[in-house]
Amino acid sequence: MTNSNPKLDPAAPAKGPIVLGIETSCDETAAAVVDGERNILANVVLSQLDDHAPYGGVVPEVAARAHLAHLPGLVAQALEKSGCDWEDIDAVAATGGPGLIGGVIVGVMMAKGLAAARGLPFLAVNHLEGHALTPRLTDDVAFPYLLLLVSGGHCQLLIVSGPGDYTRLGTTIDDAVGEAFDKSAKLMGLSYPGGPRLEAAAAKGDASRFALPRPMIGRDDCDFSFSGLKTAVRRELEKLENPTEQDIADLSAAFQKSVGDSLVDRTRRAIRLFRQRHPEGQSLVVAGGVAANKYLRARLTALAGENGLDFVAPPIGLCTDNAAMIAWAGLEHFRRGETSGLDFAPRPRWPLDPDAEPKPGAGVKA
Ligand code: KG4
Ligand code: ZN
Repeated sequence: MTNSNPKLDPAAPAKGPIVLGIETSCDETAAAVVDGERNILANVVLSQLDDHAPYGGVVPEVAARAHLAHLPGLVAQALEKSGCDWEDIDAVAATGGPGLIGGVIVGVMMAKGLAAARGLPFLAVNHLEGHALTPRLTDDVAFPYLLLLVSGGHCQLLIVSGPGDYTRLGTTIDDAVGEAFDKSAKLMGLSYPGGPRLEAAAAKGDASRFALPRPMIGRDDCDFSFSGLKTAVRRELEKLENPTEQDIADLSAAFQKSVGDSLVDRTRRAIRLFRQRHPEGQSLVVAGGVAANKYLRARLTALAGENGLDFVAPPIGLCTDNAAMIAWAGLEHFRRGETSGLDFAPRPRWPLDPDAEPKPGAGVKA
């Protein structure tokens, strides 16, 4: 269990509205309390890594049971750490989707129960919107901004114009970028979770040793594709037969560089579109679990600089799944007078831009 947020300051005077947030959409059980002055009063995250590691990936039923077992204790802990009583809480927000449906149901039922028992408004939050609005919690970024959302289930470029107001410029047509990290890491024999392990291996590697594809580069849209890259990793591994630690480090570095080249090329194109539509826009933002990757952050920082944009990435503990982002996204809607009904049904699929053309890639099912 962590209290990993650098902004966490229980001594800070809380300013309303104060929202309790709950996150249970994947393999992190989390609860947080956030106020309207962007103070994170409590942020507790229980990772289920050890529960899923033996299976090499997240097992939905195991995740749902673990959420059920731990969520009540985590909510109590978040409240205690925040220094708030129930009387201080103005609303209860929970991830309403997209995600593994068993876990989402656990979080939504808990939040609805608490809201009903305490007579508080309930807010169902889109998990992706939690990631998307985090830079406003951490850095007070003004709308509109260009967002590269890179997680285990998604890889999208979006213009963020306001809470609930998203224009998708591009998306993956197959695997999500975090999924590509995880699958390639697994092929290389790196333990779960693959993304951080692959980054650590790449730090000791020579990226120039393997010529991997740079998917979608130069295409006249802002879409992504990562499944070919994963296949190329598999082919190189087959050629190596018994790869050494150095082989894996070099292949990891080459993989990470290809991902970086691809993200930079696609984002450069999106910056052009963003500029045309919003000349007043000032920020490129990266969010989602893969935004924890320091190499990719450096590449995107350089890209933003070349284009005269500010670069904003949340602190690493707020890139991966947490409940502070859910409380904050709920708060952004709450202060606009928007709440959800207790009849809200958890949504396994919930696109940020409902008008965007459906594509076959990640996020269609999840
Ligand atoms: O946002 P997140 O915590 O959960 C989803 O909503 O998907 O993202 C998890 C993803 C996983 O695929 C994980 O491997 C990846 O983020 N990830 C990383 C790093 N840390 C987490 N990928 C690359 N480098 C990292 N340092
Ligand atoms: Zn996430």
